[in-house]
Amino acid sequence: MTKTRAQDGVTLSWEDLAAEARSARERAHAPYSRFAVGAALEAADGRVFVGCNVESASYPVGTCAERVALGHAVVSGARSFARIVVASGGAVPASPCGMCRQALAEFGLELEVMSVGGNGVATTWRLRDLLPAHFGPQQLGLAPEAAS
Ligand code: THU
Repeated sequence: MTKTRAQDGVTLSWEDLAAEARSARERAHAPYSRFAVGAALEAADGRVFVGCNVESASYPVGTCAERVALGHAVVSGARSFARIVVASGGAVPASPCGMCRQALAEFGLELEVMSVGGNGVATTWRLRDLLPAHFGPQQLGLAPEAAS
């Protein structure tokens, strides 16, 4: 976890959160795609959890930056999230893949998602809009709170 100004009652700017994502990106393990990605996931309590993509010689084993950040957060006890920034190096900001959208949706659809490309161009979405008609605990016959 990165120490955050939010812990001192000061809201982190989007630019600060993007800087955390860019810093995490520098630690990406992406020797196969050469597409390094970093993510910074901000919990509702202000803590920030970072992730980078971790690829494998067995390609499907590789994990995206967003899910590494999410695992990092959950094992630290965070269950509620406000924002995530994804940093990549391409001209077009990378939108989170379907698997990451579903993984993040487990913890709420109001998440604000920003993606920043290599040239600083950014796009923002609400997770609800990135993953309409998502699969959730209700399809399993469970109330949403039963899964928490
Ligand atoms: N990747 C991410 O980590 N996050 C995204 O939002 C898009 C894709 C990774 C997966 C793989 O390691 C590389 O980028 C190329 O797809």
